[in-house]
Amino acid sequence: MATAHIWLLFIVLATTLSDEVKLKYKAASKPVRLFTEEELKRYDGSEEGQPIYMAVKGAVFDVSKGKEFYGKDAPYNALVGKDSTRAVAKMSLDPADLTSDTTGLNEDQLKSLDSIFEGTYKAKYPIVGYTASRLLNKDGSPNKDFKPEDQPDFQIKDEF
Ligand code: HEM
Repeated sequence: MATAHIWLLFIVLATTLSDEVKLKYKAASKPVRLFTEEELKRYDGSEEGQPIYMAVKGAVFDVSKGKEFYGKDAPYNALVGKDSTRAVAKMSLDPADLTSDTTGLNEDQLKSLDSIFEGTYKAKYPIVGYTASRLLNKDGSPNKDFKPEDQPDFQIKDEF
């Protein structure tokens, strides 16, 4: 009887472990969606019933469940439908900061950006794609260094 239990335990453990190993080396399961600026603009919360998207550091988040922050007439509506990296880093809603441009940001602002990126956006909202400027080089060729935030085993050759 005891032997049977040990065998059962062994089988359960072996299956669980082999699943983990398989998962660890699994190829990317989700294709990556690319958003141009124009496409991202369609998800600015102005249309009732449409999802609301916002990009930070080139990752496009579905912030629809934060409608009270980002929806039409909500306080942070200016941040959505675009990449608002600079605004998030500076905690600013100045139209000049509603851009992905991080030129000249100081160390504190860059640290704050990373902590909001990890602690708020990645923790709270699903990623639905990436901006063209993160996925492509300036000449339009694929950016070979691209890695999705949530798919560490992603191989760029699989997707392009
Ligand atoms: C008087 C100034 C401000 C006050 C009193 C304020 C207050 C708040 C509060 C209470 C939250 C709530 C969080 C929660 O319930 O989880 C929040 C979140 C947030 N605030 Fe502000 N805020 C101010 C200014 C700003 C500015 C200028 C920005 C510009 C980027 C900003 C960006 C954000 C963001 C991105 C969030 C996270 C929303 C989310 O969880 O998706 N805030 N703020």
